[in-house]
Amino acid sequence: MNHPTPAPSAPHIQAFFDKATFTVTYLVSDPGSAEAAVIDPVLDYDHRSGRVSTAAADRVLQAVAEQGLALRWILETHAHADHLSAAPYLKARTGAQVAIGEHIREVQAIFGPVFRAQDVVGDGSEFDRLLRDGEVLALGALKVEVLHTPGHTPACVSYKVDDAVFVGDTLFMPDYGTARADFPGGSARQLYRSIRRLLALPPQARLFLCHDYLAPGREDYAWETTVAEQRTRNVHVHDGVDEQAFVALREKRDATLAAPALLLPSVQVNMRAGRLPPAEANGVSYLRIPVQLPEGMKQI
Ligand SMILES: [Fe+2]
Repeated sequence: MNHPTPAPSAPHIQAFFDKATFTVTYLVSDPGSAEAAVIDPVLDYDHRSGRVSTAAADRVLQAVAEQGLALRWILETHAHADHLSAAPYLKARTGAQVAIGEHIREVQAIFGPVFRAQDVVGDGSEFDRLLRDGEVLALGALKVEVLHTPGHTPACVSYKVDDAVFVGDTLFMPDYGTARADFPGGSARQLYRSIRRLLALPPQARLFLCHDYLAPGREDYAWETTVAEQRTRNVHVHDGVDEQAFVALREKRDATLAAPALLLPSVQVNMRAGRLPPAEANGVSYLRIPVQLPEGMKQI
């Protein structure tokens, strides 16, 4: 979504929607200095063939080149469980720094052992920068403020740039509701508190979402909304829904949700800042699937 001629101090925001994973990647730039950040870049990955392509990331790079932008930051809102991050590819092409919330260490502590990832020690050193709540990054004349908004995962952050807030997987469009909170380390209660924090921002603040899955009855994908719209109309957390009611609703819904199709590939790559596991002696990287057996099969 392109915004018409922004005022000099307002960020220029461009959205790239990946239909395969329903993910929105944002390119945010300061019109004055041409410094830019990419938020949540997607690497195309076909799980059936194990084949990776950079088509989605190349569209972002093309926009960067066409607008003469200098990419400074690659910002992840969290370790995604539904797509692989293109952060290393964009970093290699531009020299931009890869940043994520500091609580990624907790995510690594949970998932490192799940995948027996001996290269992941849990200190977050795979990333160039670990961000604390309240920290501010410079983007030319713009400021990128980091808000720790856990719940979907322990490490989730939102990025506030002027009146635009990139909320990752906290809120979805008002007609769709909120993100799941049942991944390891997730918490519906924390998610509620993070959402209330976001919805305490000024009513006109623009919220940019990480996903859209089309609510029933809606035909067009959408990813931009406002605090006021969410407070009035969000089907899960409009004003008046208290924490207890939200937690009950969220947990009931989460109990019905299947694992995302790319959960296992995504988590083991994204906890490594988008890098594949170290290559084996033949030069090939392999993803791991920890197989869970039913009781009766364990002695076979
Ligand atoms: Fe997510």
